[in-house]
Amino acid sequence: MKAYITGTDRGLGLALAATFLKHGCEVFAGCYGIDPAGLDSLKAQYGAQLEMIPLDVSSDASVAAAAQSIASKTGSLDVLINNAAIIGQKDAAITDTLDFNDMLAVYNVNALGALRVAQSVLGLLRAGEMKRIINISSEAGSMAARVRRGQKTRYAYCASKAALNIQSILLQNHVAEYGIKVHLVEPGWLRTFLASKEKCTIAPTEPEESAERLVAFLQRTPPEYLFHDLFQDRQFDW
Ligand SMILES: NC(=O)c1ccc[n+]([C@@H]2O[C@H](COP(=O)([O-])OP(=O)(O)OC[C@H]3O[C@@H](n4cnc5c(N)ncnc54)[C@H](OP(=O)(O)O)[C@@H]3O)[C@@H](O)[C@H]2O)c1
Repeated sequence: MKAYITGTDRGLGLALAATFLKHGCEVFAGCYGIDPAGLDSLKAQYGAQLEMIPLDVSSDASVAAAAQSIASKTGSLDVLINNAAIIGQKDAAITDTLDFNDMLAVYNVNALGALRVAQSVLGLLRAGEMKRIINISSEAGSMAARVRRGQKTRYAYCASKAALNIQSILLQNHVAEYGIKVHLVEPGWLRTFLASKEKCTIAPTEPEESAERLVAFLQRTPPEYLFHDLFQDRQFDW
């Protein structure tokens, strides 16, 4: 399996890269961060099985250059995992000062980034055997849950994931004609860096466990529904 994964410097993305490599996949790892230590150690272990590709999903030029670099090394991809995300301004309620430029940046990475990257490698995915796009979403974008309020509202992050969700429906409506299957995935509450500069230690789950579940999900016949909850192993109520 040939996989292109975004946001692989740390967190779930790094765990996905490590897990896919462990399962024998070829990985094109989108690197954005200033600290490549995790990927460097995977590169030392796996050599040519891992290609590190500079990638800022918020930039048209960077996404196009990454796609070109991948296309120079392979004629096909089996799966694209749109994992990269930022949380933006935290702990701001409607009564606080809201940073709208920061919100635009969050939309650009979390929602538009996934579309930009999917468009950039559509031809490679059409040529692949598995033809899968996995967009990592979140309960934060769920219309059904509607649990967040006050300081924890995180308008931009939640709304960007809701935007990613509807965008994925539209994408699926179109790419079905190419045999490509799109899924949204809720990965669980993870010990990663999304919510702060420090690794979250109160979350119940290591990203490696989530990554293993995603590999298992990809190895099964894809379900008809769009939004999969990895830990409940069923459709997500969104
Ligand atoms: N953590 C959770 O509990 C949780 C729950 C539900 C859903 N999710 C979703 O899971 C996915 C992974 O999140 P995570 O928890 O692993 O967060 P994380 O630890 O912060 O990792 C996010 C990754 O995205 C990269 N990134 C940030 N901006 C980027 C850009 N413009 N272009 C390319 N890459 C960029 C980051 O690079 P830097 O390290 O350099 O910033 C980092 O490698 C996200 O889609 C998130 O919304 C997470």
